[in-house]
Amino acid sequence: MCGIIGYVGKRNAVPVLLYGLQRLEYRGYDSAGIAVIDKNGDKIIVEKQVGKIKDLQEHLWNRKIEGHTALGHTRWATHGPPTIENAHPHTSQRETISIVHNGIIENYLELKEELIKKGYRFRSETDTEVVAHLFEELYTGDLLETALKVAKKLEGAYAIGVISTYEPDKIVGIKKGSPLIVGFGKDENFIASDIPAVLEYTKDFIVLEDGEIAVVTKDNVEVYNLEGKKLEKKPLHVTWDISVAEKAGYKHFMQKEIHEQPRTIGDTITGFSSSKDEKLFEAIKDADRLYIIACGTSYHAGLVGKFWIEKFARIPVEVDYASEYRYRDRIINNRTVVMGISQSGETADTRFALLDAKKEGAKTIGLVNVVGSSLSRETDYVMYTYCGPEIGVAATKTFTAQLVTLLLFALEAGLKKGTVSKPEYKKLYDELLHIPSKVESILNNEEGIKEIAHKYMNAQDFLFLGRNINYPIALEGALKLKEISYIHAEGYPAGEMKHGPIALIDDKLPVVCVIPQDKYYEKMFSNLQEVKARKGKVVSVATEGDTKVKELSDDVIYIPPASDVLYPILTVVPLQLLSYHIATLLGKDVDQPRNLAKTVTVE
Ligand code: M6R
Repeated sequence: MCGIIGYVGKRNAVPVLLYGLQRLEYRGYDSAGIAVIDKNGDKIIVEKQVGKIKDLQEHLWNRKIEGHTALGHTRWATHGPPTIENAHPHTSQRETISIVHNGIIENYLELKEELIKKGYRFRSETDTEVVAHLFEELYTGDLLETALKVAKKLEGAYAIGVISTYEPDKIVGIKKGSPLIVGFGKDENFIASDIPAVLEYTKDFIVLEDGEIAVVTKDNVEVYNLEGKKLEKKPLHVTWDISVAEKAGYKHFMQKEIHEQPRTIGDTITGFSSSKDEKLFEAIKDADRLYIIACGTSYHAGLVGKFWIEKFARIPVEVDYASEYRYRDRIINNRTVVMGISQSGETADTRFALLDAKKEGAKTIGLVNVVGSSLSRETDYVMYTYCGPEIGVAATKTFTAQLVTLLLFALEAGLKKGTVSKPEYKKLYDELLHIPSKVESILNNEEGIKEIAHKYMNAQDFLFLGRNINYPIALEGALKLKEISYIHAEGYPAGEMKHGPIALIDDKLPVVCVIPQDKYYEKMFSNLQEVKARKGKVVSVATEGDTKVKELSDDVIYIPPASDVLYPILTVVPLQLLSYHIATLLGKDVDQPRNLAKTVTVE
């Protein structure tokens, strides 16, 4: 999704913007641009390019632009294709105001018609350009006052950054629905879509809430609500280092993040245990039903969570795609709990579905990675994964951390309800503490997995099979592969194969079987035999020492033994590496796959 950065301060803004835009690249984009108020404060210089930030950088080479108040933007096309005209920033007719925007202005056509009638000419197909003209049309002599008027006219979800030659030392940021933070520096301040964009310059931030407007100058930050009332906001200090947003010698962020898992799993176990919210577990004690809603990889974590919560806490769980849950006639009473899982905490589908459920009387829990994100503030209770920023578009370390949190949540809820005994809890907890070193041993086999990737990289389709708690892992394996390699892949519960997908199997189809030695092993083994009998190519993810599976499979990736319920945290790791290596061998851009955005802030 689009990324915003704004700078006001003593240095030349251009390098700061370019650095920030690079940090925002992971969100997904197809064009980028900057708007800089020139040194004399009387002109806005706008430069844009279609393509990558390096294309914009090359374009700016030798242009010698200098200014101290500026905006930058990465655009993920919604209204109109990726062209220079449609790229942001957009400028008002008299070129006195420049705007960057993330989100969708739902009533833009109506506003556009009104503005056209008043003589405004539009240069782009975007919804954003109306905001630039609207600012000019409504300008009162004060940017904040104007922003209040503009915000009242806009419908939809948006984060907007505004600069103007009328008030050249100021940036105004407006937030409703899409994320926007303000960073505090010395003699300089920033706005941005997220923290990594400005982490090089500051670790102190405020996270704007919906309906808030920030007025930012180099020495001062003020926040107002939409009635123009000044608000007191408590800054947030982050402890991460900028290195979390660097590749640290790995070829891609995705590879680095896969390798970070021993640490992020460990940190999440510790983080959960040290910041347990007792009120949350009191609230869950009486729950008669738990809905888990999420999208993509987070949805797959929810599917695994269902097994654990039903097993340990004995609460019936329904897992739904947030975009589906939002528009169905769900049944909610005062004993209903709805948990939204979201790495970013900004996914529009998940947020809005949760807000609706909350309005209808459900208690809401957020499971998020990004501290201070919208979802973390909008839910009644929040649990965090402790991963730091995840930059690769494909979720990896946050998935295993979500699993760890869901397992601990289920055990803790079970303990409080009396459905889990203390020794049972302790046994699994102690075993969980060994999961990081088991993940490490899987990662040590990366070269072996790469060889397997090489063998199957030219396949047209893949099938992923698993049973019970490892069925969602088959879904996740298929999602990872398709999103970064563009190879068609399907995940299926292995027992369901005979009801249809078995027709796909021939000697060209690689079938990845997730077959750890758990309670369902024999059943899964029969499914593996069914694939082999139809000449499918079998790649198995099996428990170390399993020679029976090895004999029947074309290739095996071993994982260390574990208790049945812990296997998903291990079985997913080889699938992440397999997808990663297939995609890189095919020369795909794994960190920024085509058409995808890291944070999907539109419905
Ligand atoms: O930030 P969220 O967890 O809410 O994001 C949900 C999905 O957009 C996300 O998991 C997506 O499917 C990833 N690209 C998967 O790798």
